[in-house]
Amino acid sequence: MARTLEQLLDRNVAWARAKTTADPSFFSRMALQQTPKYLWVGCSDSRVTANDVLELDPGQVFVHRNIANVVHTSDLNILSVIEFAVEHLKVEHIIVCGHYGCGGIERVFAKERGELFDHWLQPVSMLYRKHRTIFDALSPVQRINRMCEVNIEMQVRRLAATPIVENAWLRGQELHLHGWIYRMDSGLLRDLGPHLSSITERDLLPSIDERIYEPVNFAATQISPVNEHDGCCCVAQAQN
Ligand code: CO
Repeated sequence: MARTLEQLLDRNVAWARAKTTADPSFFSRMALQQTPKYLWVGCSDSRVTANDVLELDPGQVFVHRNIANVVHTSDLNILSVIEFAVEHLKVEHIIVCGHYGCGGIERVFAKERGELFDHWLQPVSMLYRKHRTIFDALSPVQRINRMCEVNIEMQVRRLAATPIVENAWLRGQELHLHGWIYRMDSGLLRDLGPHLSSITERDLLPSIDERIYEPVNFAATQISPVNEHDGCCCVAQAQN
């Protein structure tokens, strides 16, 4: 096994060179400041990288990732990230993004307990225990995917309950929270909700327990084939 990672460093040089060729001032601008509009709270899964799936450049999205995109109100890491993003970077959107087939969520249904990440996943496993009959009536795949969806909504709510977000809303700062889900098999993101922009909206949400009873919203999203006219507003206007 290689002791060094020369191939990765070589890829870095090639990437920096390509960026500089396309935009000679790119890195000098990056070195001065970052002004991302978005904070991404995602899963650590290696297949769901914010910049790639959003096709954003460095500098455009501030990122926090952990197993199963959990918002723990005792986690100094995520709280520091949220505070810095909201109070200093003044991001306008926080996206909690989970994904179907999440291994962290799958662990919630396992019989084994006692690993450190079982402690990490405790809010999700408690929700499962509370609604065990409902989840156990689903197929193994369905119950994982249902919990992936419910977990995203739960974490958006937990985010909305942090004093950092509440204070931002109280002082009139524009801040929108979103719950998104990613499908590995299509590469597509979907807006799952909830979308929260104020304490009032947060407080009007029904209990998370009511969401458990909804079926999996596993939409068969497909990328439609692109032809030469797609995406051109001029064509649509000409046809109207
Ligand atoms: Co995951």
